Amino acid sequence: MSSSISRRATLACLAGTAVLMGTACSSTKSDAVAATAPDALRLDPTRFEKQTVSVDGQSIAVRAYLGVPYVAKPVDTAYQVINIYVPEAYYQNAKVGDFDARTAPVFFPNQVGGYMPAKPGTAQAVTQGPSAGKPSTIAAALLKGFVVASPGARGRTLKDADGAFTGKAPAAILDLKAAVRYLRLNASVLPGDMEKIISNGTSAGGALSALLGASGNSPDYETYLQAMGAAPGRDDIFAVSAYCPITNLEHADAAHEWLFNGVNDYRAIQVSMLDFNMVRKEVAGTLTPEQIKVSNELKPLFPAYVNSLNLKSPQGQNLTLDASGNGSFKDWVSGYVLSSAQGQLDAGKDLGKYSWLNIQGGKVRSLDFDAFVRYAGRMKLPPAFDALDASSGENNLFGTASTNNRHFTDFSVQRNTANAAVRAEDKLVKMMNAMQYIGSRDARNAKRWRIRHGTIDRDTSLAIPVILATALQNQGYAVDFAMPWDQGHAGDYDLEQLFAWMIQVAKAG
Ligand code: DHB
Repeated sequence: MSSSISRRATLACLAGTAVLMGTACSSTKSDAVAATAPDALRLDPTRFEKQTVSVDGQSIAVRAYLGVPYVAKPVDTAYQVINIYVPEAYYQNAKVGDFDARTAPVFFPNQVGGYMPAKPGTAQAVTQGPSAGKPSTIAAALLKGFVVASPGARGRTLKDADGAFTGKAPAAILDLKAAVRYLRLNASVLPGDMEKIISNGTSAGGALSALLGASGNSPDYETYLQAMGAAPGRDDIFAVSAYCPITNLEHADAAHEWLFNGVNDYRAIQVSMLDFNMVRKEVAGTLTPEQIKVSNELKPLFPAYVNSLNLKSPQGQNLTLDASGNGSFKDWVSGYVLSSAQGQLDAGKDLGKYSWLNIQGGKVRSLDFDAFVRYAGRMKLPPAFDALDASSGENNLFGTASTNNRHFTDFSVQRNTANAAVRAEDKLVKMMNAMQYIGSRDARNAKRWRIRHGTIDRDTSLAIPVILATALQNQGYAVDFAMPWDQGHAGDYDLEQLFAWMIQVAKAG
């Protein structure tokens, strides 16, 4: 029996339609693999609730498996759980949109913001935060025929009953990997194609989505995963969607000052508002002479890093920077802003108010890069990520069970103003950075990527998503990268296009 026929038979058994299909309810090969795993890792296919989810007047009946633990030894039972939603049609031999029980891709959206703990997502409309009133991404995906599996994940502030931190790095990525393995282990009792898992996330969640896609099956995480009681097996995924990924943290301070050096006025937010899910309040200020000095010291570190990556344009041009931070890489970044502006012009928008754009004959010819950066404005103070007093969200991410905050760059350790200068291990910093796994022999990279970063999103330098997208392109992967015009720090704002891309890559691959 071929595996697809045996899977169909299992699903028919689930649906109680086996007799109709003329198949017997015998066990399958993947059942045999599942049988060797602890019972705690087997999904009970009967423990669902029926829901009808709606978006914009359209609705769909689904089975919802809610709050399902995905590790055998959870340290936090509120966060190490997953919500799995399956269109009811897939148990009735019917199709939704382009898909059926065998072909439906599995949409895997995490809800992480600010590297904080995140509960699994639900199909209910958003009621809080900047996205209040928007439909649930999960409900919209179900209507398109995706199976949706939304993992919860531990985050940097989480504590156990004894007050020990339980969600510091690399907890969140371990949780996402464990959830992927759980889905594969239970493939025989779940509709959907577990070889078509498509991750999605925004900001810190975008970084984790990218890291999940880059670091598939890497042995770096294995001992941790085993200790958690994660399912054995693979954790590579099919495709990645990432909105404004706050990634490449150990290079993000230099990338930030490469972009914002010379912009001394800022509108900053408090660390507690880092999370894109929060409504933000900005406080205006001006860099002190000491902060300007730090910016001046960080900026020149960036060209050496960019040049070490050997990035190339699709035409084969080397993307580099000279010592003062100018060169083909800068033009490459600015090219994405120009294309975004051109898209607006082509859609009939009036760009007259953007005096830094040079528009002639319906074409955006060039831009005054410095003026554009001043327009976007500075939000973070240098160093933007590894704060000298170890007070940033990222310092908090790299804490330990007993130390709340740690540095993660030599630059900030050397200039430390906190009580004690403690630095996260290089291996740990590596394990949180998607860039470290792209093209690595020890990891299986996802081959299809969609990355979005708004032109005025100042939470990380525009160079960061450009480096990520270009490194992936240079591996020969299919990368759809764009900078939406005048878009700030947010995600899931173009669901129709996101789902169209997901459907296209799923059908092609
Ligand atoms: C997020 C935003 C940040 O500016 C940051 O440094 C980390 C995370 C976020 O919205 O997830």
